[in-house]
Amino acid sequence: MNDTLRLGERAQAMIDALATISADQGRLTRLYLSPEHKRAANLIGEWMRRAGLTVRMDAAATMHGSRAAAIEGPRARKRLLLGSHIDTVVDAGKYDGNLGVVVAVIAADELRTRGVALPFELEVLAFGDEEGVRYPKTLISSSTIAGSVEASVLDLTDAQGMTMGAALAEFGADSSHLTAEAYNRADVLGYLEVHIEQGPVLDQAGEALAVVSAIASQGRYRATVKGEAGHAGTVPMAVRHDALAGAAEIIGLIEEIARKGARASLVATVGEIRASPGASNVIPGGAEFSIDVRAADDATRTAAADAIRQSAKQIALKRGLIFGMETVHEKPVAVCAPRLKRAIAAAVTGVTGKAPRELMSGAGHDGQAMIRLTDIGMIFVRCRAGISHNPLELVSVADMGLAVEALIATIEEIAKERA
Ligand code: GLV
Ligand code: MN
Ligand code: MN
Repeated sequence: MNDTLRLGERAQAMIDALATISADQGRLTRLYLSPEHKRAANLIGEWMRRAGLTVRMDAAATMHGSRAAAIEGPRARKRLLLGSHIDTVVDAGKYDGNLGVVVAVIAADELRTRGVALPFELEVLAFGDEEGVRYPKTLISSSTIAGSVEASVLDLTDAQGMTMGAALAEFGADSSHLTAEAYNRADVLGYLEVHIEQGPVLDQAGEALAVVSAIASQGRYRATVKGEAGHAGTVPMAVRHDALAGAAEIIGLIEEIARKGARASLVATVGEIRASPGASNVIPGGAEFSIDVRAADDATRTAAADAIRQSAKQIALKRGLIFGMETVHEKPVAVCAPRLKRAIAAAVTGVTGKAPRELMSGAGHDGQAMIRLTDIGMIFVRCRAGISHNPLELVSVADMGLAVEALIATIEEIAKERA
């Protein structure tokens, strides 16, 4: 077996081991600060130690594995950060996030065994909250390091009413240091992340790897519709204030606004909905749903969110309902740094024999938070048919091997620049 395939096989074994750690039988669900997140974090800590890294867990439950620079003096304090996330969506694929952490751990181990001396510290990060499924806010763990998290996030509650502060305590993380975890910008060289593409471009093009140009603008909102609960058998249709029927009309309109948008990159999704009181013989008095809006530029995304808000209000007015739309997460376009894109492109060209294409990421990533701290660079890996957030997500062993080699070569490119 050649070296690249050996690295791919190793990545596959680690991905498969992580995929067994789930809250659900027969499907992968691993939410931030859950017992499964803890088990996965412990396993990664163990792998980091075996890779010769010094391990610690921070106040937001991120695992850090670091290796000192091979030089001395003030320049040795500079750190190159690598990482991704180990939380998943509900009924997830096993590569989203997890692949980036696994590839970074293997790359760090390979650099050690190959005796590569680096003129900077290398640090692998396994973030716990990129998906934002459990709490209304997302990117908590990367925002903590980037210094943009506020202590008030500890009061956010999950669907069971458990605060993030209580969940961190149960996890064993000392959240009293949350805002003190911020890294100093002057100590950081950049943040590199390997992630599956989650789109079909590379698969259709027959290419294994790409350089990410930027991460799309994203907003997440919580919409509420208030109506009047009543008896399903007695209240005539003409005098009802059915919150769920109103929500349904609004959701149809959200889809239309995104479909008819001026830019093809505009997408809008309602992925979660609740009606209350929630009984088959009661007219819903309330409805609550999520709205996720993304686009390649901030203006398109914010204009679409404004259009949704205005049109939803008109629908609510017509039906005698009250509509509210609260922003819970907002990130502008995160542009990848030209110097890191160049290093990645040179590395991928060396590894695959072909200059990589640049791709925009429609999916959100920890880089959207890390860009507040440092330059970001991302390598995309082909996934079958672009399927993601789905258990059918698949990456080949060969591509994972190439991703490890590309990350190693990128780190070496950056080391050359600094030498
Ligand atoms: C995370 O996968 C996101 O893009 O929402
Ligand atoms: Mn991800
Ligand atoms: Mn995801």
